[in-house]
Amino acid sequence: MQTSRTSSSSMPDIGRKLFDFYLRHLRRIWRYTPNFVRVRRAGRIYARFLDKMVRRSSDRSQSFTTFFLRNRPELELLQMLIADKPTGAELKITVLACSKGAEVYSMAWAIRSARPDLRISLQAIDISPAIVEFAKRGVYSLRKPQPTDLSSDSYVRQNGHVDAIPSSDPNHWLFEHVSNEEMEGMFDIRGDQAIVKPWLREGIQWFCGDANDPNLIVRLGGSQEIVVANRFLCHMRPPEAMNCLRNIGRLVAPGGHLFVSGIDLDVRTAVARERRWIPVAQRMREIHDGDESLHRGWPTQWWGLEPFDETRSDWQMRYASVFQIGITSTRVPPIGGTNWKPELVSANGEIRQR
Ligand SMILES: C[S@@+](CC[C@H](N)C(=O)[O-])C[C@H]1O[C@@H](n2cnc3c(N)ncnc32)[C@H](O)[C@@H]1O
Repeated sequence: MQTSRTSSSSMPDIGRKLFDFYLRHLRRIWRYTPNFVRVRRAGRIYARFLDKMVRRSSDRSQSFTTFFLRNRPELELLQMLIADKPTGAELKITVLACSKGAEVYSMAWAIRSARPDLRISLQAIDISPAIVEFAKRGVYSLRKPQPTDLSSDSYVRQNGHVDAIPSSDPNHWLFEHVSNEEMEGMFDIRGDQAIVKPWLREGIQWFCGDANDPNLIVRLGGSQEIVVANRFLCHMRPPEAMNCLRNIGRLVAPGGHLFVSGIDLDVRTAVARERRWIPVAQRMREIHDGDESLHRGWPTQWWGLEPFDETRSDWQMRYASVFQIGITSTRVPPIGGTNWKPELVSANGEIRQR
C-alpha cells in the first residue's frame, strides 16, 4: 500500500532525525521478532506501542488505491440491511471518497443483485475532480500494474488530466478480488478494457465534494439512509479525521447506517462514543478482517489495521466498522462491560438481538 514518511513536520530538524532513527530501530526489532513472541502478551504490548509511535509521528499522504469487491463481508452486511425494505422502496445511499469508482460499482452490484426492485439514489463523491471524472467513465484497463509504474496520485499531481490516470496502482491490481464469473456479470470486456455494464452505472450521480464541508448535506438533497466513508480518514491526522467524521455522521438520517473503516481506531471509537452511535454486531469480525491489504501494514505503517482482539474490554465498539446513528439508546456498550450484547438494527429500525 502507501509508503510512509515517518517524520513529524512540527518537530525541529535534529529532534526529527533522532526520532526517525529511534523509530527505524523499533521497526527493525519488530521485523526480527519471531511469530511465537509476537502473539504473546509482551509481543502484543510492543506492537501497540510501535503502532502508537508510528501514528503519532507519520506525515500522512492521500492515495487513490482501491479495488473492486474489496471487502465482501461489508457488501453482505449491506445486503442484509436492505433486505427488509418494502418492494419498490427508495434507497438513499452516499459513498464518500469514491476514488476511481470501484467501491461504488461494487456496492451498486451488491444492492442491485440482492434487490433489483429498489429505486436507488446513489451519490458518489470525491475531493479530486480528476478522479471523479475517471470514476464516472467506468472504463478500466485490465493491464496488471508493474512495480515500477508511477502511482495514480503522482499522475494526478503531475498532469491532472483524467486520461493519464492508470486504473491500477503498483502492486494493487484493481480486479484482484474479482472472479471470472463476476467479471462477466459486472463488465463488458473490449480488448484490454473492462467497461462497467449499463445496469450498474444507472442512476449513479457523481460529484466533486469535500467530506469536511458542513453544507454537504444540502448538496446531497438531505440526509441519507446509508453513508459510506471508507479508507480515507486514516490519511488525515487524528484531530482532522475526528472533525471530518463528526461532519459525516450528520449526513446520516436518524436510524440510518454509517460504514466507516480505514480510520485510526482510537479516532473512530472516540467519535462513536461521543455521538452514542450503535455498533452493528453482524459480520463485525469478518468486516474487520475482510481487507487483508490493511492488516499487512500493522504495526509498522500508519495505514495498518490491528488484529481483532476480543480480550480488549472495548472490543465491541473498537472493531465495529458499521454503526447505526441517530437513535437515542442505552444500548451503547459500557467501557469494560461484559453483559452487553450487540444488536443488528435493520433499515426499517427493527432491532434483533444477536
Ligand atoms: C484510498 S482512496 C479510498 C477509496 C475507496 N473509498 C475504497 O475504500 O476503496 C482515498 C480517496 O479519498 C479521497 N479523499 C480524501 N480526502 C477527502 C475528503 N475530504 N473528501 C472527499 N474525498 C476525499 C481521495 O481523493 C481518494 O480518492
